[in-house]
Amino acid sequence: MNNKHIGEIIYSEKQIKERVKEISQLINKDYKSEEPILIGIFKGSVYFLADLSRELKIQHNIDFLSIGRFKSTDGTKEKVKITKDLDLTIRNRDIIVVEDIIRTGLTHSYIVKYLAPKRPKSIKLCVFLDCKVQRLVELPIKYNGFEIDSKFVIGYGLDYEEKYRNLPYIAKFRQ
Ligand code: IMP
Ligand code: MG
Repeated sequence: MNNKHIGEIIYSEKQIKERVKEISQLINKDYKSEEPILIGIFKGSVYFLADLSRELKIQHNIDFLSIGRFKSTDGTKEKVKITKDLDLTIRNRDIIVVEDIIRTGLTHSYIVKYLAPKRPKSIKLCVFLDCKVQRLVELPIKYNGFEIDSKFVIGYGLDYEEKYRNLPYIAKFRQ
């Protein structure tokens, strides 16, 4: 593998494992008498969701949504649309949206706008990395892994041109 883009490691495999365990303990406690659906957003959240799911002791289901970004026909605006829909019915269910990283919050607010009219019982957000300084829309984060600054990062699901998702740690991207 050509590793030239892998910079300094910010969170090691061990730190990630420990943090995932801590988050799963919070979810076990909060949902001890519920059966939530974890909804992962392709593709970045796949690694985090799989680790989290295996640490949970409560009954739960998993499902995935994929969203794509397109230029509008006149090329001026970026449009977002669902490219892989849910398989499960979420009406009256407790939803935990699992995401890799939140920066502006625009992706997540699009997802909430899509899910809310389906009338779930609740929607909470669980995100592995939170970059607060870049936020453009206010969002309540219920569970978060780590906070990061504005630098682009790779690994643990996060890609650069579809590569480096499989790194077991999170590293700074090196140009
Ligand atoms: P937001 O809409 O600005 O909150 O951006 C969130 C989405 O952008 C994430 O779901 C990622 O797919 C992508 N993204 C944002 N920052 C990074 C990064 O540092 N590395 C890789 N992907 C990123
Ligand atoms: Mg990406």
